Amino acid sequence: MFWWTSIAAADYLPVKASKLAGEVDSIYNFILICSIVSFILLMGGMAYFIVKYRRRTENDKTAYISHNHTLEFLWSFIPFVLFMVMFFWGWKVFHKMRQFPEDAVQISVTGRKWAWTITYANGTQLVNELVIPANKPVVLNMTSEDVIHSFYVPSFRVKQDVVPGKRSRLAFEAIEVGDYRIFCAEYCGTQHSQMIGQVHVVSDADYAKWEKEQSEQGSLTPVQKGAKLYKTQACFTCHSTDGSKIVGPSWKGLWGSPRKFADGSSIPEANEEYIRASMLNPNEHIVEGYTPAMPTYQGRLSEEQINDLIEYMKTIK
Ligand code: CUA
Repeated sequence: MFWWTSIAAADYLPVKASKLAGEVDSIYNFILICSIVSFILLMGGMAYFIVKYRRRTENDKTAYISHNHTLEFLWSFIPFVLFMVMFFWGWKVFHKMRQFPEDAVQISVTGRKWAWTITYANGTQLVNELVIPANKPVVLNMTSEDVIHSFYVPSFRVKQDVVPGKRSRLAFEAIEVGDYRIFCAEYCGTQHSQMIGQVHVVSDADYAKWEKEQSEQGSLTPVQKGAKLYKTQACFTCHSTDGSKIVGPSWKGLWGSPRKFADGSSIPEANEEYIRASMLNPNEHIVEGYTPAMPTYQGRLSEEQINDLIEYMKTIK
């Protein structure tokens, strides 16, 4: 397929899965075609003039031309018109994107190093998974717990920074049932490239079914709650449960094992006191072979949640 038919069909871009994706692509293609045509005219013109007006002999002189009103007007006015079209067209679509309907499905999103926590109005929490109904407006109310992240769904043509201490919003309407990638589009540290999630767009009936299932999940045991926190608090981005080394020590076999620290000290076994201190004052004792990378969870985890996590940790042998 030739590049121009590809541009006309916009099939070099990700699948268009939201209501405004087509309009975004149209502006993008308009700008791209303007750029390609300008590039050919400018570079072609330059090459043509280089050849045509090259110095042929020692005394070769070209005519002295000071200015040309028509030409000067045209090379100012045509770009001006093109830029105005880009601006007003872009502004029109941007304005549509920044509509946050009251009756939309409202979902909270929290970015943290290095995962997305999705919280629904009924309390359901998911990590790196966003389940939404098709053909219904969705508004994400987003913030960050640590640094700037950026919530990006290429197939929806939406991207929004999430900033600590600030609420940012993102609206879209999915038109196609399916799974789409979520990326973090703002460099946020070691595991930035792993801060990846999925949007599951489902039919109305499936969404209602899923909502019901979630609310029916009765009370959980401390171990189950701990396992859930391991995900929602994004512990898994730094601590594996299979013994592999990520950013921090694995949780496999951690409970009760002897610990050696970078400063040469050690403790005979990892007990409650040590693990609790590691969550609240992570940089006090750095395990040998690791660097201080963990933020404090003081104020982020309740005492009960710390206990749940410890109960869960005990089961990973
Ligand atoms: Cu979060 Cu990059």
